[in-house]
Amino acid sequence: MHVSDLSLDDFRSYHRLVISLEPGVTALIGPNGQGKTNLIEAVDYLSGLSSHRAGADTALVRRAGPGEEQPGGAVLRARVVHGRRPTVMELEIIAGRANRARLNRGSVRPRELLGVLRTVLFSPEDLALVREEPAGRRRLLDDLAVALRPALAGVRAEHDKILAQRAGLLRSARAARTPTASMLTTLEVWDAQLATAASRLIAARIDVVERLRPWVADAYGAVSADPSPAFIAYRSSLALHEGAPEPDPRAGGERPEVEAGLADADATAARLESAMRALRTREIDRGANLVGAHRDDLSLFLGPLPARGFASHGEQWSLALALRLASYEMLRHDVDAYGGDGEPVLLLDDVFSSLDDARRRALARLVAGARQVLVTAASEQDVPTELAGARWRVEGSELSRG
Ligand SMILES: Nc1ncnc2c1ncn2[C@@H]1O[C@H](COP(=O)(O)OP(=O)(O)OP(=O)(O)O)[C@@H](O)[C@H]1O
Ligand SMILES: [Mg+2]
Repeated sequence: MHVSDLSLDDFRSYHRLVISLEPGVTALIGPNGQGKTNLIEAVDYLSGLSSHRAGADTALVRRAGPGEEQPGGAVLRARVVHGRRPTVMELEIIAGRANRARLNRGSVRPRELLGVLRTVLFSPEDLALVREEPAGRRRLLDDLAVALRPALAGVRAEHDKILAQRAGLLRSARAARTPTASMLTTLEVWDAQLATAASRLIAARIDVVERLRPWVADAYGAVSADPSPAFIAYRSSLALHEGAPEPDPRAGGERPEVEAGLADADATAARLESAMRALRTREIDRGANLVGAHRDDLSLFLGPLPARGFASHGEQWSLALALRLASYEMLRHDVDAYGGDGEPVLLLDDVFSSLDDARRRALARLVAGARQVLVTAASEQDVPTELAGARWRVEGSELSRG
């Protein structure tokens, strides 16, 4: 698929932008702080309805200058070409209120936009995927699961809601010292609901991990000089609670046993419920949910060693890049996609400047064949010559054909 037209109203630093884009490579070139990432972020937001760098949507609405009236919201519009018929999608981000969406001019719930535009974004922030806490890795898996099956967005939202409510109940039970009988009965109801939602989310993540695994190894081999193979595995808090060992790339086999056991959501739900029963007292003591999808992780290895804590800076960076390239390949090969055209739009924000010459060329070769790639760079020299295509100058949040 590709985006043929894009418009932004009052999004980030953009007052009003209307551009047409072609398939193939489009490079956005300009000095720091001119609006390159903002534009990439807008395209990515239309795909996943969240931003890779803003927690709150209010940061996405343009802050008015002195003496200017503050806009109440931002509007993003894109025409997406896939299959035979193009789709026009529109999203209004209103500060402090729910977003509004349109699909081919008809009002829809924002969530119905999911699946229309697929993107894979790689940005400097992605180093956190390898280095930081598990939340970013869970988000990677969940975003990919939703890209593959948009209906999963509902499960994910439901899961988060139940999780928060159950945590609230556990906190009240802790505060009460001796939990009342009604608290315990309510807790059992929440156990069942959380187990159902979490097990479906976990099964979807297992599917993603298994599809992604071969592509991660390939992509890491292509963009890194490191001869160790990259390996990913799902780290399940449930399996660990039940006494399973930590994921280990030396265990061999295509599919770790723990993952095989989690692919069946009904069986996982039953296991989760019994884990919660076993952890009842500890959960109340701590006032927190101790087992489930929200405590899981994606383990990353280079050779036999965990990438976090062992790999060099350059290796971690290559691995983060490999995770995104693998995501792109996985989605591209998903033939069940909407319109039979699942190939995502690839967004590469400021990646080439941090790679040495050989890696830069390897990446350029990998992405040169993509249907549509938007790349940003501070200077023309940072864009490899292999990536022939459109060049735009970005200055003061205005674009001009370069
Ligand atoms: N809501 C907002 N309203 C107005 N301006 C904003 C808003 N959010 C961000 N900006 C401005 O956008 C600019 C940053 O734009 P962006 O991140 O796209 O830069 P960039 O061209 O990618 O730069 P770099 O090369 O440093 O990555 C900053 O000057 C920032 O103040
Ligand atoms: Mg930037």
